[in-house]
Formats: sequence, C-alpha cells, structure tokens
Amino acid sequence: MIRKIAEMFRKKHSLPEEALQFNCAEQTGTSWNERANIAAELIRKAAFLDSTRWLSIADIGCGDGKLEAAIAPKLSTFTYQGYDLHPQAKRFLQLDIKNDPLPREFDIVVLLGVLEYLPDIQPVLRELCRKCRYFVVSHTCNPIGVSAEQIERRNWITLLSKEQFDAELDKAGFINLDDVTTSNTKTTVWLCRGSLSEVVDYLPGSARSLGH
Ligand SMILES: C[S@@+](CC[C@H](N)C(=O)[O-])C[C@H]1O[C@@H](n2cnc3c(N)ncnc32)[C@H](O)[C@@H]1O
Repeated sequence: MIRKIAEMFRKKHSLPEEALQFNCAEQTGTSWNERANIAAELIRKAAFLDSTRWLSIADIGCGDGKLEAAIAPKLSTFTYQGYDLHPQAKRFLQLDIKNDPLPREFDIVVLLGVLEYLPDIQPVLRELCRKCRYFVVSHTCNPIGVSAEQIERRNWITLLSKEQFDAELDKAGFINLDDVTTSNTKTTVWLCRGSLSEVVDYLPGSARSLGH
C-alpha cells in the first residue's frame, strides 16, 4: 500500500525511480519543510557572522531543492548550487558524496537528511570540512516511535545519538556553533565552522537578537 502511494507520488512529480529508496515520496511533508526552515535560519546566522556580500551555498543531497526557497526570504545575496546522486531537476548537478569530492570550495555547505543513508560518515565529513567556511547538517538523533522494521524500510544505515554525532563532527574538524532540534524532537540541525572559516566570536541567538 505505502509502496503504491509512493509510486503514484513519483509519477505525478516526475521523480527519478531511484529517489524512492531515499524516501523522496515524502519530500513535501511538514517535517522536511521544518528541517529546511531551521537550516535556512542557521544559514542566516552564518551570513551575519560573515562579511562576505555574496555567499555561495552548496546543498548536497538537495532532493527537490526546497532549501533554496527557504533561504530566499532570509538572505538576498547568495548563490545556490544543488547536488544530488539522483538530480530531480536539470539545474542540480550529479554528485555521489560517498565517492566524489566536492568540486570546489563554498562559503556554506548543507547536508540535510543524507547521512542516515551512508555507511561511513567520517570520510564525507572530513572532505566537506576542508571545503567550507560553515556547515549545516541534520541527523535523526532521536528516532522515537520509529520501529526497527520502519528503519530498515527507510534504508537508514547510520543512526547516531546527539552525543555520538557531536563527536563525529568534532573528529572531522568542525567546530559546533549552534544546534536546533525539530518540534517532534527526532532531528537535530547543526551549524558548524569548517576549516575555511576565520575565527569569529559566536553567541547562539545573536543574529536574531540583533534583528538580522
Ligand atoms: C531524504 S532526501 C533529503 C532531500 C533534501 N535534502 C531535503 O531535505 O528535502 C536524501 C537525498 O539525498 C540524496 N542522496 C543519497 N545518497 C547520496 C549520495 N551518496 N550523494 C549525493 N546525494 C545523495 C538522495 O538522492 C535524496 O535526494
């Protein structure tokens, strides 16, 4: 039944068939939009920390590219490049983050809902840390109410607690600046400083309180 509904969604939205293994039939759902909005808010904070006028943003595993629309009302000076293993639109570039290096450096690299599908996240995190000033990443740290069978059906391979994920970020060289958890408490989104960032003092919530 669930498979049938997913297939109907795929046909209606011209999704590549392979996108279904990454649960993209659910990509218009509330929790996916909330995750993108949290990420956009953290990007706005990163922009506030940075004097660069135009920010280059790479969204890896961009899916339908909903992040670009979430950033637009918050930031006027940015360029957005979506990458995906199975691009859903011509403007997105094909990239397998498991095997391919990111082709260039970016001010901000984003990875939302992707690491759950990768068996070994450390090499990916290390590669991305080298290529960005700021990193925005999500992880399902608290899959409450999701049974082992559902986890298997969703093809999730890596599920770490918040403490374990924090340790992975630290090991890869990132400095954690802020993190926000979704309203259903399942997913956390981090803002980190990557290797290309200058050292700037950061107080969580400072961008909002200064009205930017
Ligand atoms: C759960 S969806 C999230 C999509 C989007 N980030 C969002 O939040 O709406 C995971 C996306 O990651 C992509 N993906 C999975 N493995 C990938 C890989 N190794 N390299 C690049 N993209 C990948 C899938 O094709 C899919 O579009």
